[in-house]
Amino acid sequence: MSSLGLLLLLLLLAGPLTPSSLPPPDTPEGKATIASLILSALERATFFLEKRLPDINLDSVVGFRVLEVQLKGVQDEWAQDPRLRPQSLRVGNLMRELEPLLHRSISYLKLSDQRYLREFQPTIQPGFWKLPHIWTHTNTSMVYPMLEIQDSFSEEHSDACLVHLLGTGTNSSRPCRLSDFCRTLMTKPGCSGYCLSHQLLFFLSARMKGCTRGLFRQSQRYMDLFCANMMDMNHRAEAIGYPYPVQDLFMENIMLCGIGGFSDFYKLRWLEAILSWQKLQEGCFGRPDTEDAGFSNAIQHQQHAPRRVKRREKLFADGCSSHNTAMAVAALGGFLYALAQYPAANGEPWQATLAPPMAPVSDSGGSVPVVPR
Ligand SMILES: *[C@@H]1O[C@H](CO)[C@@H](O)[C@H](O)[C@H]1NC(C)=O
Ligand SMILES: *[C@@H]1O[C@H](CO)[C@@H](O)[C@H](O)[C@H]1NC(C)=O
Repeated sequence: MSSLGLLLLLLLLAGPLTPSSLPPPDTPEGKATIASLILSALERATFFLEKRLPDINLDSVVGFRVLEVQLKGVQDEWAQDPRLRPQSLRVGNLMRELEPLLHRSISYLKLSDQRYLREFQPTIQPGFWKLPHIWTHTNTSMVYPMLEIQDSFSEEHSDACLVHLLGTGTNSSRPCRLSDFCRTLMTKPGCSGYCLSHQLLFFLSARMKGCTRGLFRQSQRYMDLFCANMMDMNHRAEAIGYPYPVQDLFMENIMLCGIGGFSDFYKLRWLEAILSWQKLQEGCFGRPDTEDAGFSNAIQHQQHAPRRVKRREKLFADGCSSHNTAMAVAALGGFLYALAQYPAANGEPWQATLAPPMAPVSDSGGSVPVVPR
């Protein structure tokens, strides 16, 4: 069976849903409790980053850069609120710790992969990633009726299109360029898995870069489409109990669509699941200790090999994955930012301000609805 076929089979098997046991975020106490849990996880993950700094690859640095921006956003929100002062101080400390670490990690990347660094440098520069200022929801009616089973998506092609877009190739002069090949690849309907998340990453990068002409006039429409399908993938991952091989994609979807402004990815029960995956001692995310290693490795191998293992994924001997960890911190940072934006901060009852821009999707139980103010 193809790697995608196996993943889809896993995702199509149904299972039970478990409700969240986290406190509701609509009181200052509930909010502080959730914030503390997230911050503890982020502090441990930063400890992991520091320990493994020379081995952290570029894709993982991206996750921590995204986290940095989210922490800044949180700090701006909480600076005025004395009830969240302890959490606000922890956010500040974490930011002060991250900055020099990320700076040093770039020196290591210069040694390990010059070319990849040059091509993707913009994505790890401070200021590239920006927080959403308008929140929206995914729309279930945009979920593909059928998926493209042929896994023809190549990471090399996707990278080449991104390099073109960023304007960092050897011949490139300016950003926002788009070939016919890339247009077709990045708008191809019926994608799932990493094909889908890379299509979103492409349009998200275009937005960060300020590309607004041609195809990019329709960026929002494509992001609506891709995130509706990424939401569907995540529901399927949840329904089968989040086996390890789908956790990375699950968190990548939350990171990317969250940065894209889709607030319904910030469900409390998803937060709880992610928190439960962290290895407390190492501070990392990766292969669970209890997982049947043989079965898991087989899937992991099929799903990622050969293209994701090479450059992007780094699985340490202790089961820690730098990519998993990076996706986790960026997803968790998004939860923290969504929490900080959550209207109860103003002491307003959340029922009164709950006005989602679209009809709620099929299950809104446990989600943190975030409303623009
Ligand atoms: C760069 O430009 C040269 C000369 O115009 C050309 O031969 C080469 O194929 C181009 N490379 C890429 C990656 O487009
Ligand atoms: C959801 O998408 C469908 C199909 O694209 C569209 O007709 C509908 O208006 C959308 N719903 C909302 C609430 O925007």
